[in-house]
Amino acid sequence: MNLLVEKGKLYTKNMVVGESVYGERLVRRRGAEYRQWDPRRSKLAAAILKGFSVTLGRDSTVLYLGSASGTTVSHVSDIADNGKIYAVDVAPRVMRDLLFLAGKRKNIFPLLFNANLPEEYSNIVEGVDLIYQDVAERNQADILEKNARLFLKENGTCMIAIKSRSINVSKKPGVVFGEVESQLREHFRVLKKARLEPFEKDHMIFLLVKK
Ligand SMILES: C[S@@+](CC[C@H](N)C(=O)[O-])C[C@H]1O[C@@H](n2cnc3c(N)ncnc32)[C@H](O)[C@@H]1O
Repeated sequence: MNLLVEKGKLYTKNMVVGESVYGERLVRRRGAEYRQWDPRRSKLAAAILKGFSVTLGRDSTVLYLGSASGTTVSHVSDIADNGKIYAVDVAPRVMRDLLFLAGKRKNIFPLLFNANLPEEYSNIVEGVDLIYQDVAERNQADILEKNARLFLKENGTCMIAIKSRSINVSKKPGVVFGEVESQLREHFRVLKKARLEPFEKDHMIFLLVKK
């Protein structure tokens, strides 16, 4: 496993030795170089430190929706070093960084698409073991369902990060999370859920499988 937890800190084994992606610390452990993974900059790191199991192996294929410039994607790329990460984002401004990252990491495939329209990338993306979604949109459950229907393998898992303010600023976060959970439960079974405090305020993450 290319993931290391040590004294409450998280690290991934660096695929591109000597290079840090976003200014994170590089350390030597077990005769190799690792990158520190900051739970305040990555909801996936926060989830792992909150006890979520990592449903990712070295050969995993991942559909990552909402990659932004690739902070978390880079760590997923370290973990699934022998797999593939389809990194989707709708914003052209983040693609430049993502393309730069993909130029150095053979397992990242940047895709400039809207995750609401998965049929537009269905000729590129294959069956995946994990869908990780962090798009900060209002119809998050709907986006996940559409993508899972097209791409998730039978025994695959999904993780979805929800920011309550992206869905409704006036409702209490707990109410928003409850509503999203009911929508998710129409198509998925919830294996685990957790709020991400103290790392992220008013965020919740779910680990799901298809019903
Ligand atoms: C919170 S940021 C993602 C941060 C990233 N997951 C990380 O941990 O490094 C949300 C991203 O979702 C993207 N996004 C929003 N709506 C989207 C959509 N419909 N399809 C694809 N990407 C979308 C935004 O452009 C933004 O880059």
